[in-house]
Amino acid sequence: MKRFLIMGILCLFASLARAGMPDDVVPRPAEAVLLKGSLRLSGLPFKCDPSLPAEAQAAVSSFASHLGYVSGKSCPFSAPPGLAAAVDAGKAKGAYFLRDTALGAEAYSIEVGSGRMVVRASGLSGILYALETLRQLLPAAIYGQQVADRERWVLPACVIRDEPRFAWRGMHLDSSRHFWDVDEVKRYLDVMAMYKLNRFHWHLTDDQGWRIEIKAYPLLSQISCWREGTMVGRDFSSNDGIRYGGFYTQDEIREVVEYAAARGITVVPEIDLPGHMLAALAAYPELGCTGGPYAAWTRWGVSDQVLCVGKESTFEFLETVLSEVAELFPGEYIHIGGDECPKDEWKKCPDCQARIRELGLRDDERFSAEQYLQNYVTKRIQDFLATKGKKVIGWDEILEGELAPGATVMSWRGTAGAIEASRKGFDAILTPTSHCYFDYCQAEDPSTEPLGIGGYLPLEKVYSMDPLEGIDPAKAHHILGVQANLWTEYIATPEHLEYMLLPRMLALAEVQWCPAGQRDWTRFLRVLHEHEFPVLDRAGYHYRTK
Ligand code: ACM
Ligand code: ZN
Repeated sequence: MKRFLIMGILCLFASLARAGMPDDVVPRPAEAVLLKGSLRLSGLPFKCDPSLPAEAQAAVSSFASHLGYVSGKSCPFSAPPGLAAAVDAGKAKGAYFLRDTALGAEAYSIEVGSGRMVVRASGLSGILYALETLRQLLPAAIYGQQVADRERWVLPACVIRDEPRFAWRGMHLDSSRHFWDVDEVKRYLDVMAMYKLNRFHWHLTDDQGWRIEIKAYPLLSQISCWREGTMVGRDFSSNDGIRYGGFYTQDEIREVVEYAAARGITVVPEIDLPGHMLAALAAYPELGCTGGPYAAWTRWGVSDQVLCVGKESTFEFLETVLSEVAELFPGEYIHIGGDECPKDEWKKCPDCQARIRELGLRDDERFSAEQYLQNYVTKRIQDFLATKGKKVIGWDEILEGELAPGATVMSWRGTAGAIEASRKGFDAILTPTSHCYFDYCQAEDPSTEPLGIGGYLPLEKVYSMDPLEGIDPAKAHHILGVQANLWTEYIATPEHLEYMLLPRMLALAEVQWCPAGQRDWTRFLRVLHEHEFPVLDRAGYHYRTK
């Protein structure tokens, strides 16, 4: 009997530890105070302020229903009028979700006491983040689909007040080099949402494949989305002989955008221009400087065949494509690439050279006339997208020459682009290869890892990133946030994709979310092993364990 009692007490401690303490939430909350006591959440009524947005109420209702299912004790949901006043006045047991307009758009608070829990937020994002925090405080079984009625569905009494450090908490996915179907993209969004990321940068077009249906240019999803084989391993002269392709229909794009929005994530599409366009040229060779023939690339790297920007038909193409893109993606930004655009073809092309003369562009001591020609393209597209109510983001090459006001710079070749952009008054997002390229190898010895592009980016290095290093404090407001990029040249399966993403994305999440000085590597590593790996197991993700 005594042995059973001791076992019982040990199990109790084990499950309390498993359920996690407020300070163990990832990303670590801005403020978390542990109090005495606890609250059994399973079986409680869930009541939502009807003045919260319908999407927020739906998220609470779905949380309550899932908790009721896994815990075996149903949590009835309602949205009764006058809830806020009743909560202030009463002591009734329950889980309450209230609208608090004094809180910022992404802020939330959770107070857990004996008998009841009160969550406050001003809108959808705050409610979603509060729900993610609650999931983290509960047993990992909350992430699964199995009934787990022997778990302790108990929260520690606590007060959490939380909001993110950066507004842009992005994760990128390259769907061009390898294609990820809608279900895999949704899994990617799910795990982003679990760790409170809020921008999905979707790289949809490149030399190796065009992945988005454009109604006005049907050949993009008949020809440009295919390549005639893929190089094998690192052998640039090889070809596996397997035709490779895929694209998202516009209905699928809408489905992904809606799915992301319900999880607090804005999708930022990237149409990379004027370079990285070989796949498009394969279908519309008249848009290139030489007229082709062209074919989507079967090898990795950067093609020097780019759009001919001396021809007006190229701008007609871009404006038509971007009009459809602007319709499909409701977010305020469209990413227009701008990286790695070789200028060799433009130098030889009579149309591009005529455009250079017409614009009076000249080489100077810093930039070539062709670099200024790329500025012209950026500005023209930027002006066009402004007519659709959209702002542009470009990779840091768009800073070369003269960038027009209003563009946002994504700094990937280190942080110099963000430092320069913010100094000049442009907004910037940090995605430096040094800390944010998740295609880089996770071990010092690459032979111990799956074949990859090279580089070395261990978890601890991601975690150590200081986003504002080198940024003039007076310009820090121009740094919108931090994002990691996952290019997929050497990543062909969902398992490998998730292995590259996880757990590095969790380290990224703390860089993006936690107040300066609040990160703690020792704590993170402990929480990762004790709590997050079981969470990822329950949620069914592949990840690197070391
Ligand atoms: C990039 O990695 N070419 C932005
Ligand atoms: Zn040309």
